[in-house]
Amino acid sequence: MAKLITGGTGFIGAELARALVRQGERVVVFDIAPNYARLDDIENQVKVVQGNLANWHEVLNVVKENDIEGIYHLGSMLSVPSEANPWASFQANVCGTMYVLEAARLFGVKTIVFSSSITTYALGVTEVVNDETIQCPTTMYGCGKVYCELLGRFYRRKFGLDFRSVRCPSVIGPGVKTPGVAQFYSWMIEHAAQGKAYECYVTEEAKMPIIYIKDAVKSTNMLYQAPKEQINTVNYNVAGVNPTLSAKELELAIKKYIPEVQVTYKPDPEVTEFYRTFRVQVFDDSKAREEWGWTASYPDFDKLVVDFIEEMHSHPKRYGISNKVFMVR
Ligand SMILES: NC(=O)c1ccc[n+]([C@@H]2O[C@H](COP(=O)([O-])OP(=O)(O)OC[C@H]3O[C@@H](n4cnc5c(N)ncnc54)[C@H](O)[C@@H]3O)[C@@H](O)[C@H]2O)c1
Repeated sequence: MAKLITGGTGFIGAELARALVRQGERVVVFDIAPNYARLDDIENQVKVVQGNLANWHEVLNVVKENDIEGIYHLGSMLSVPSEANPWASFQANVCGTMYVLEAARLFGVKTIVFSSSITTYALGVTEVVNDETIQCPTTMYGCGKVYCELLGRFYRRKFGLDFRSVRCPSVIGPGVKTPGVAQFYSWMIEHAAQGKAYECYVTEEAKMPIIYIKDAVKSTNMLYQAPKEQINTVNYNVAGVNPTLSAKELELAIKKYIPEVQVTYKPDPEVTEFYRTFRVQVFDDSKAREEWGWTASYPDFDKLVVDFIEEMHSHPKRYGISNKVFMVR
């Protein structure tokens, strides 16, 4: 039997596919715009199906035709594209998740892990957010994610589907392409490592909890594998780098390794407005720790930045990097 990854050639999906192939799994990836370069060394070991989550026939068909026992549902329009086209976001993110759940119910899929997000928390949050904090997002992306978390919970109760979800903070790593509110973390490091100046689209003070791509993949994989009887909370926060850094602190942290780092700040008004109300500083993941043993492998930024640049150096094609990458000193 096979594992299906929706959004499987995206930033996180392709790394998850790589991890599952290494574990000896048969992997099918479903993506509206397959990026084969990202699959790189595993391209011949996974089946790629091009399709649109918003088209229920295609979703049902990929599950029916491929003997799918488990789904990692990562396919999604991210925050910035969802604000730009909320109607398409509704179709892909909300209806698409309904189709994935229906396909799972109809064709006997056992487990689904869904990728939710820290941006489901917004109005009324204090600096510390845990799994009991009320989720009151104001973005199209956040609203869709909350609905899908709850829809998955409904399918669990009503149909016995083993649905679980992981809420990552902003994921950083090489090769981020889709714009989002916190992609500046990855892009600042990427520019510095290639000796390029970076114009940052947030203020120097902007700050959001972050997690390294390898930990985002690890948490998704661990949650899938956790024994059913340990799953009580169902939708889980997971934390990564602790404490997080503001944009300026990030610049100074990179400077330790790449003294030539060049950053200017030209804040985007819409993103600035997002950070004005987004005050989450500590992402409490105690339920994930208690129930399925979650711990991050990259909790400190220094270890992360060294690995990030080594990855860029080792796999430029995979991450779409055409310039020379300088090794850290
Ligand atoms: N990147 C982050 O900081 C972050 C943080 C928390 C949660 N997440 C979640 O993780 C998941 C993966 O995000 P990512 O960072 O890899 O983003 P990404 O944009 O790199 O990947 C998403 C993938 O989904 C595909 N996709 C988009 N619309 C689709 C559709 N209608 N049908 C089929 N495929 C479609 C895209 O082509 C892309 O390959 C998403 O669900 C996202 O919400 C991401």
